[in-house]
Amino acid sequence: QNLSNEAYRIQPAQYAAKVDQMIADHTVRQEGAFPVVHPPPGSDVYLMGRVYMWWPMLELEKGQSYRLHLSSIDLQHGFSLQPLNINIQVHPGYEMVVNVTPTTSGTFGIVCNEYCGFGHHTMTGRIYVVDRT
Ligand code: CUA
Repeated sequence: QNLSNEAYRIQPAQYAAKVDQMIADHTVRQEGAFPVVHPPPGSDVYLMGRVYMWWPMLELEKGQSYRLHLSSIDLQHGFSLQPLNINIQVHPGYEMVVNVTPTTSGTFGIVCNEYCGFGHHTMTGRIYVVDRT
């Protein structure tokens, strides 16, 4: 996993609009309340922290590169990708961008490692990595 950080200012509503657009264009299935989004390899993908979930679920392809955008719609959250232990602070009003190239397929959990209220410990999400090679 190669992480190179960039950060940009953005209004939460603008960021939410980008997330919604990606969900509308690339949702492949639903898991409970969560859309599972399979964006094209090489594209910009968006993940949003909010009380109390990481939204939506993403499905990425092994060996492909993506620009992963992270922001929050409400409070400060801590993106923590497990079991890789990749941690990124996520603030409302800022969009973080990391370049990711998944090297192993599987299911990766996201937790929140920044206390954000009574539901903090339930704030989870998921990234699937599938092998299409
Ligand atoms: Cu979000 Cu703790």
